[in-house]
Amino acid sequence: MANVVVIGTQWGDEGKGKVVDLLSAHANRIVRFQGGNNAGHTLVINGERFVFHLIPSGILYPDTRCLIGNGVVVDPEVLLEEIKGLLDRGIAISPKKLGLSERAHLIMPYHKAIDIARESAKGRSKIGTTGRGIGPCYEDKVARVGIRAIDLTELDVLKEKIRANLREKNFYLTNLFGCEPLEYKSLLDRYLSLSHELSPFIVDVSAELHEAMGRNESILFEGAQGTHLDIDHGTYPFVTSSNPVAANACIGAGIGPKTLDSIVGIVKAYTTRVGSGPFVSELIDETGNYLQEIGQEFGATTGRRRRCGWLDLVVVRYSARVNGMNHLAITKLDVLTGLDPIDLCIAYECQGKRLENVPAKLSALYNCSPVYEEMEGWKEDISGARAFEELPKNAQAYVRRIEEVVGVPVSIISVGSGRKETIFCKNPFDE
Ligand code: GDP
Ligand code: IMO
Ligand code: MG
Repeated sequence: MANVVVIGTQWGDEGKGKVVDLLSAHANRIVRFQGGNNAGHTLVINGERFVFHLIPSGILYPDTRCLIGNGVVVDPEVLLEEIKGLLDRGIAISPKKLGLSERAHLIMPYHKAIDIARESAKGRSKIGTTGRGIGPCYEDKVARVGIRAIDLTELDVLKEKIRANLREKNFYLTNLFGCEPLEYKSLLDRYLSLSHELSPFIVDVSAELHEAMGRNESILFEGAQGTHLDIDHGTYPFVTSSNPVAANACIGAGIGPKTLDSIVGIVKAYTTRVGSGPFVSELIDETGNYLQEIGQEFGATTGRRRRCGWLDLVVVRYSARVNGMNHLAITKLDVLTGLDPIDLCIAYECQGKRLENVPAKLSALYNCSPVYEEMEGWKEDISGARAFEELPKNAQAYVRRIEEVVGVPVSIISVGSGRKETIFCKNPFDE
């Protein structure tokens, strides 16, 4: 029995979905604790591809219950679409299988309108958000004017909140951005109909987890985004509006910090980033294009081309510290096959000085260049490897060097997108 958190150590899209799906075999409940449908988590099961934006990646196991915690911002329409999408593929999702926290905040149409209007007004200095209304929804949460899932069950409260919010949001949208105002009646009608469909899923996630832990159940917490997109610890302001770090599993699900046993950091064998912001080891050359193509690095949410570069261990080491990681899961090692040499970024150089850490000052970070260690590549197909010893010597050396520089042992190595294409060195639930 253990409680395990899975988080991204880079800028998202590390392969969290695949690892969460695998580890779900050992858990009774899977909980999303932050972010929203800016996330796109991909699973490939028997060649069939599933992409989840809000529903936890453990949903395909028949006896596993999935929960969306209070820390998540939920677009009700996207959640219902996701439920219907699964039904179309023969997977029925009932309130027995999925629960939504009564305290989760809802993304409203004005959040999306503000997100999109702001980004287009910013022009070249835009963050490159997913346009899903994530930032504006978290802003309203902190401003104490947000609409929560529980409000869907109390219609007078819902009406009043929508009315008050629209007054402010329409003023902002029309006067600052020249957008069309949103209409109260149609918005309310839309949310009233959504409330009928979603109300049966609304539960007290924190209380449920407390009871489950009392019965010695194992819980898996599924992070979204990555540590360097964290609002506090990431490359601010080119970040998302929540805390993807492991500590937030507690706040975003309503459990105490002492209940967590293991923190698994997912490390893609190279680095990618979607949207704007500094990226020290970015490759704007043939090798970058090669990684993008072979790794099929297109956003699972927006379809945007992901920027690619060598593995930046300064970034991963920083993540090991702020998350307290005790397991590494390395993904997409197969994508590096055929590249020789392979560079590993182990430090930065900034105005003649060597840096071991990511500087907070954005201008300094933009001026950093990577200090590379050259590793020898391998040519053999590794997608069939199921034990560490079955990897070519140079691939083994690459993994061992990552462990050494980051200071955290590798427990899982992923060599393909399917469930079976995995080397398990240690199970994080066996703590
Ligand atoms: P997430 O957001 O962290 O869940 O990651 P995404 O799903 O956005 O992106 C990871 C992509 O890599 C998905 O298309 C996965 O199917 C794929 N993937 C995961 N692990 C591996 C792997 O070991 N090798 C290869 N080739 N693809 C992988
Ligand atoms: P998963 O869970 C990669 C990025 C956006 C943008 C920034 C802010 O699949 O790893 P937002 O819409 O959150 O305000 O955008 O964050 N971003 C992601 N990049 N993977 C994600 O999620 C992301 N979620 C947000 O591209 O740069
Ligand atoms: Mg993704």
